[in-house]
Amino acid sequence: MDLFRAAKDVRENAHAPYSNFRVGAAIRTADGQMFTGCNVENVAYPEGTCAEAGAIAAMVAAGAREIAEVIVVADSPVPITPCGGCRQKLAEFARPDATVIMAGLHGELARMTMAELLPGAFSTAHLRQTAPRDEG
Ligand code: THU
Repeated sequence: MDLFRAAKDVRENAHAPYSNFRVGAAIRTADGQMFTGCNVENVAYPEGTCAEAGAIAAMVAAGAREIAEVIVVADSPVPITPCGGCRQKLAEFARPDATVIMAGLHGELARMTMAELLPGAFSTAHLRQTAPRDEG
């Protein structure tokens, strides 16, 4: 199945009774596997999760780690772009040149690289390399 179709299909399962904005995401990994996710809202609004987070969780649970391409689909006239938090979540597993496609229900609307979507991403390069603190 193609990535767009997979994202569109999983979007049908979104739990979005509060926003009524259903989102589907599909990831293709560097080794050719595909993982999908949809947004899962909660009555305690901040506890809801985005479609991208669901797809990333499925990928990691299956033991895969490298996002080559990701597509996000919603019923939107303008390209739906991953929220700020999801950009950082995607950057954890996507190289700067990985493809991020934003789509409406009828197909692709825009395409960017991970680096274009999150320039200056916080990364391991920013972490000070010290030994873990001894809490004893
Ligand atoms: N949402 C996603 O799932 N992915 C995005 O990239 C943007 C927003 C969800 C969160 C919430 O359930 C709904 O869309 C409205 O913000």
